[in-house]
Amino acid sequence: MEKQMIEVEIKVNGREYRDIIPSDMMLIDYLRKHRLLTGTKKACGAGECGACTVLLNGKAIYSCITLAIQASGKSVETIEGLSDGEELHPIQDAYIDAGAIQCGYCTPGFIMSTKALLDKDPHPSEQCIKEALAGNICRCTGYQQIIDAVELAAERTGKEADGHECK
Ligand code: FES
Ligand code: FES
Repeated sequence: MEKQMIEVEIKVNGREYRDIIPSDMMLIDYLRKHRLLTGTKKACGAGECGACTVLLNGKAIYSCITLAIQASGKSVETIEGLSDGEELHPIQDAYIDAGAIQCGYCTPGFIMSTKALLDKDPHPSEQCIKEALAGNICRCTGYQQIIDAVELAAERTGKEADGHECK
């Protein structure tokens, strides 16, 4: 049977795109194949590891279980949208400085989950960080360096944990 094609209009990293794509195309495949944004990784492909995390209207979502059509009319932010030219985003710098990256396959997903967290809660407690990153799996680092990286990023943007409820 012939694939049904649909038109989508998706804002990716601040730029509007209009494309004709298969109606069952997942957002991760749209980003990697149509937009050539290969920073977003696919590992489990089943909504279980967080490697494919991107922001959809500011909220961290798994792009491997989200249809591209669900992003139509919305705004998507990927890891490529964080740096400013050669200048890394403070969250990226903090991950490097805290030693929170080994093989790096999980890192774009963790960084996007961190971005979603710090955008809504610039001074999260350790518990809130753990909750926000609970959907991301890292097989290399152990998680302490990652928590340290989030705390470092929060500190560098001038905010510190104050033990409030998670937002
Ligand atoms: Fe999407 Fe694992 S690749 S959750
Ligand atoms: Fe290798 Fe996280 S750094 S999976």
